Amino acid sequence: MDKEALRSVAKEYGTPAYIFDLDMLKKRIRMIQRSLGEEIRLCYAMKANPFLIGPIRQLISKYEVCSPGEFRICEKAGIDMQQIVLSGVNKERADIAYVMGRYGSKGIYTIESAGQLEVLESCAKECQVVIRALIRVTSGNQFGVDEEEICRIIERREAYPHVQIVGLQWYSGTQKKKMAKIEKELLHLDEFLGLLRGKYGYEAEELEYGPGFYVPYFTSDEEIDEEKMLGEFRSILERLHFSGRITLEMGRYIAAYCGYYLTSIADWKVNQGQRYCIVDGGIHHLTYYGQAMAMKIPHYQYIWMQEEGAGGEAASVRKDIDTGIEKDADVEKAEPWNICGSLCTVNDVIVKQLPLKNALIGDVIVFERVGAYSVTEGMYLFLNRDLPQVLFYSQDGGNGVQMIRQRKGTDEINGIGAVML
Ligand SMILES: Cc1ncc(COP(=O)(O)O)c(C=O)c1O
Repeated sequence: MDKEALRSVAKEYGTPAYIFDLDMLKKRIRMIQRSLGEEIRLCYAMKANPFLIGPIRQLISKYEVCSPGEFRICEKAGIDMQQIVLSGVNKERADIAYVMGRYGSKGIYTIESAGQLEVLESCAKECQVVIRALIRVTSGNQFGVDEEEICRIIERREAYPHVQIVGLQWYSGTQKKKMAKIEKELLHLDEFLGLLRGKYGYEAEELEYGPGFYVPYFTSDEEIDEEKMLGEFRSILERLHFSGRITLEMGRYIAAYCGYYLTSIADWKVNQGQRYCIVDGGIHHLTYYGQAMAMKIPHYQYIWMQEEGAGGEAASVRKDIDTGIEKDADVEKAEPWNICGSLCTVNDVIVKQLPLKNALIGDVIVFERVGAYSVTEGMYLFLNRDLPQVLFYSQDGGNGVQMIRQRKGTDEINGIGAVML
């Protein structure tokens, strides 16, 4: 979104707010699909941003769903169960029974442990369905199943007549910069699938792989030639012996770029020679993977909200609304500002030494590339500030800006309300 579009959103809706550019999101998914080839299926890991599941339903094959809450979000959005990969550790028996009871054999499940396989088998038996499942291969943490254990399961797969094991799932982590690491993982999985074929006569139909592709968040990060990177990845896939279906499970890489977070300067001061802006949002609304002590500058836009000339351009003098202090708008030199949020903690520093020209109360800072994980990973309840509004933006669909979630208080979640002790 350009500055003018962002300025009018800030004017009309206020801040703090997230706005997700659906046109950009869809264009990106099409670019990914085109670069990888139509035969590769895309699975959106909705933990990155559950708000996006509806708008992209025509463009992706599946959704990776990791909790009963995520499942309910899909149900409310009318997502077809056929598109759901019910994933995650600790799938509770009651939740599995609900899904199988209601949706029968639709969808696909992941197996995170030998115990989970037993529960899936017994629930499927009770519901008289045969379900499809992928065994998650561990990458050396609490997730997935050890390869030796997978061999034992595959060897005695006949013991699970209600669970058809259709293949493997793998995800080892995010923000992978090096294609060599991805290549190593894929070659290893290919070899393991070969071993299962050779030793147990097991032919997997599907490999669901989470590449954990990298998104450059900071101005100091090198930008990526996306089509070149995806082309390299595609050539690795083409070299695999595995000839079944390949599904790519991705969150960040799909969603990050479409998100903008708008926050306004609420106050400013100079303390012991350092300039501080206090904005109406804060670190509870923003998650930049790899941010270290607020030292790196994320991609951002700075928007002057007041003192526009008749044509909408910034006037030559800007006046601070509260203090009346006038500033020369044509000042050449940017000043370094520490951008701090509204939380009552010294940790609430979004970025240090951000060079701004004439920062004034009411101006809006727009943090970019926040489409993934900022809406889900923030520490939203700390200090009980409100949840920001969520907006959609689309020119192609003719919808313009749509309010998706109003600003929402958190006091009901963390307070005792009328209940007196
Ligand atoms: C199993 C699984 N798949 C996919 C993803 C999405 O990862 P990313 O956002 O790096 O694409 C995650 C993220 O935690 C995950 O746990």
